[in-house]
Order: sequence, then C-alpha cells, then structure tokens
Amino acid sequence: MAWPFPLGRRARLAVLASGRGTNLEALLQAFPPGNPLGEVVLVLSDNPEALALERARRRGVEAFALPWRGRKAFEGEALGLLRARGVDAVLLAGFMRLLSPSFVEAWYGRLLNIHPSLLPDYPGLNVHQRVLAAGEKETGSTVHFVDQGMDTGPILLQGRVPVLPGDTPEALEARVLRLEHRLYPKAVRLLLLGLARPPEAFGPLAEPLRALPPRERPLYARALSALALWGKEALWPKAFSEPQDPWVRGALLLAHLLACPHPALREELSTLPEGVREAALGLWTRVESPL
Ligand code: GRF
Repeated sequence: MAWPFPLGRRARLAVLASGRGTNLEALLQAFPPGNPLGEVVLVLSDNPEALALERARRRGVEAFALPWRGRKAFEGEALGLLRARGVDAVLLAGFMRLLSPSFVEAWYGRLLNIHPSLLPDYPGLNVHQRVLAAGEKETGSTVHFVDQGMDTGPILLQGRVPVLPGDTPEALEARVLRLEHRLYPKAVRLLLLGLARPPEAFGPLAEPLRALPPRERPLYARALSALALWGKEALWPKAFSEPQDPWVRGALLLAHLLACPHPALREELSTLPEGVREAALGLWTRVESPL
C-alpha cells in the first residue's frame, strides 16, 4: 500500500457526524481554515437536525445534511462531495451509521473513527453502562482506522481516564468526552505528519506488527513511521530485533512519549546522540505544540 502522508501540503479534512458534535467542535478548533497542517473543509451528517451542522456553519465551514434514504444513496452523495472538495482524510465523529465495505476500502488508511472505550474492549453501543457494570477501574477512548468491522480497525491512539467510585454513565461519558477532545486532534496530527499508519503500510513488516497485541501495534507503527520519516527505513527490521541501535531507540522512545508524555521518557531521550535527539524532539514538538 503506497502511503500518502505527510502530503507535503495542507490536508483537506471532512468530518461525518450524526449528533451533538462536540468532537467535531474540537476538530474545527484544531484544524481551522489556513492551519498549515490541515483544515476541516466539509462536514456531512445523515441527520438534518444534528447540532454538528450548526457548529460547522457557525465557523464558516461548508456543511451538508444528507438525510438517510439508505446506505447506497447516502454514500453516493457523500463520495461525490468528498471528491468534489478534494478531501484527503475523513473523520467519523459520532457518526452512527455503518459504512459499506466498498466505501471503507476506498478510504482505508484515510478514514478514522473515535470510540469511547479502550478497544478492543467494549466495541458497540452503551459503552459506559457496560464499563460500570463490569466494575472496570479504568476506561478511555480509542482513535482507529476504520475497517469493515464495527470498531475493529487498527488502533491509532488511545487515552485513559480512571473510573471513580460513584460514577454514573453520564459522569463517565463527560470525563471520556473531555479526553476525546484532545485525543482526536492529536491522532489526526499523527496521521497527517505521517506518524500513524495501519500495518498494511509497512510491507513485509505488516506480519510481525500484526503478531503484537492490538494495543502495542500502534506503538511500533509510530516507531517504524518515525524511522521512515528520518530516511531510515532500512532499520525497520531492527525495531523488533535490535532496539539498542540509537535511531531505533529514539524512534521507540518517541513512540512511547507521544502516547504518554512522561518526563522520564523525555529525560532518556536527551541522553541519545544529538542527531537522533533533535530528530525525535522535532517530531514531538510538531505533534504536541502545533502552530
Ligand atoms: C463520542 O463519545 C465518540 O467517541 C462516539 O460518539 C460520541 C460522539 O460525541 N463515537 P459528540 O457528538 O462528538 O459530542
């Protein structure tokens, strides 16, 4: 699979939302018109009443209601608009319909979703009730590439929050939503900067990647992506076998740091040779402190 990111120009983003659109709002804020990395240029909803449409229009972003008359009709219109507006990536944000295999295949790698649990646990609906009923101590949210299953595609980024004693589903939902409003824009920055790719983008290394537990895969995918961005693809196999190579070490530390900004990791990064350190910190800054 030829990997398109980074594009080398400002990305054009579309968001599909069915409801209140608080994640859309976070994306509109993070990717406003003229943002050098990417801008939201199009919002589509299957629900004409969606507050999401209103949020987009308030910010001067083109928004269309495509009332649901079946999947074929919706997807035909949506694909036409995505093509006409030159969209590079599609972000599902509270979009409550399942897309067809042909839509998903056409956009695979450029189609993301956010789900309010630590996937692969708790796919589907009523997540917070189920998390509480199971007595979990921790929950979170996952941004993933969309594949043909429901909430099953390769994980791109996850964030965690505690479940507190006395939490109601509503309290948990509000906590997870606050997390999501940071997580989704960050995941999109990773995608656009070329730091997040599904296993298929790594050619012969797709297999060893798939052999890892699902939540570890995105970490290695980030490390391999960083090596590619540094022109060090030749080191890919070493990511699994020789983690003491300084570039591999830098890539793995960066990959961890991007998910968990612990000062210990930054400190360790600063002990690496200057070239590696500068390269890793350069990417880290572009994700964490965008212009
Ligand atoms: C979010 O929790 C998201 O994870 C899920 O649907 C919810 C949408 O909320 N897919 P909002 O419409 O963005 O406020």
